[in-house]
Amino acid sequence: MIHVNTHYRDIAESYLFSTVAKKVAAFTAAHPDRSVIRMGIGDVTRPLCPAVIEALHAAVDDMATAAGFHGYGPEQGYDFLREAVRGYYGERGVSLAPDEIFISDGAKSDLGNLLDLFDQNNTVLVPDPVYPVYVDTNVMAGRRVIYADANESNGFLPLPDPGVKADIIYICSPNNPTGAVYNKAQLKCWVDYAVDNGAILLFDAAYESFITDPDLPHSIYEIEGARRCAIEVCSLSKTAGFTGTRCGYTIVPCDLVFDGMCLNKMWTRRQTTKFNGVPYIVQRAAAAVFTPEGQRQVRETLAYYRRNAAVMTAAFDEMGVWYTGGKSSPYVWFRCPGGMDSWAFFDRLLETAGVVGTPGAGFGRNGEGFFRLTAFGDADKTAEAMERIRKAAF
Ligand code: MLT
Repeated sequence: MIHVNTHYRDIAESYLFSTVAKKVAAFTAAHPDRSVIRMGIGDVTRPLCPAVIEALHAAVDDMATAAGFHGYGPEQGYDFLREAVRGYYGERGVSLAPDEIFISDGAKSDLGNLLDLFDQNNTVLVPDPVYPVYVDTNVMAGRRVIYADANESNGFLPLPDPGVKADIIYICSPNNPTGAVYNKAQLKCWVDYAVDNGAILLFDAAYESFITDPDLPHSIYEIEGARRCAIEVCSLSKTAGFTGTRCGYTIVPCDLVFDGMCLNKMWTRRQTTKFNGVPYIVQRAAAAVFTPEGQRQVRETLAYYRRNAAVMTAAFDEMGVWYTGGKSSPYVWFRCPGGMDSWAFFDRLLETAGVVGTPGAGFGRNGEGFFRLTAFGDADKTAEAMERIRKAAF
């Protein structure tokens, strides 16, 4: 008789953003005339930039000719894109070998897929609050998950506790959901902890392009020692509007050797076995992001979202609401007014202001009493949402 993976009993029945979507669908069905502004899931709204669209068209034309047609590509990604990513890291002084770069269909998939490399008996350390994918993928696999408290007192940036033993550690900076960003000295503490304990850091850099402060690190490899203990996962979803186009990259340095096995070789073996690569057309589009013109254009879009974030934080400043994020991050994380709990505030905000956000409690125990709004919306709608929140005077 077949036995199922009963670890699925240990996770919530529905993924956080599916639960939010269901609640919003029920509200709009019950109130078809109400205008609802969505600032919940961090999905982008601006179109792909012209350089990307041109590359997509050209790649489609390639596929229409015998000479330009592409069938199965290299599972790790085409050289033209791996070189473009290598150049991007190089500009920041991070030197990577081309075969350390693996093109993916996005950060979320690889954050789960990478767990194929690790034994089930490892202990996983995640910050709380946390992007739910880190927890759910490990619980599904039956791993033990422990938490590092992120709260107002540490600026939502927990540091390693030498008394805690962990094997797989997730770090997301700029952080989802809180928008808090680690500086180099803080990341060095995590790298040192990982090296000293033979642990691996899974560094989620999906929001790196929102960093404006030149002193803040975009990549874990800006920190000395990281090549010996860290895998980095990044995505073009938020940087270049690829949430629906799907392309990202994962860096697995050749120096990562545990139990006498090289993680880079293992990941190559895993990808060649279980993945057929990202479509040629999409990789051409992704490569256009790294051209000078592409970079100029995506920065314009990032500036648009940053202006939204500034509108949001200015409104919270005026209302005297405590928040973090919104500076080097598209997320603003704030304390629910009147001591309301997160889901109660979710309902109140939707009912009174017609604004959808994400309840902090959905990201973990320490998220209770907090709430997340994204700056990825339309500028007019963002301003309108903040006006409605101000008027609602919770
Ligand atoms: C979020 O809203 O946290 C993100 O959009 C989720 C994701 O990138 O998968």
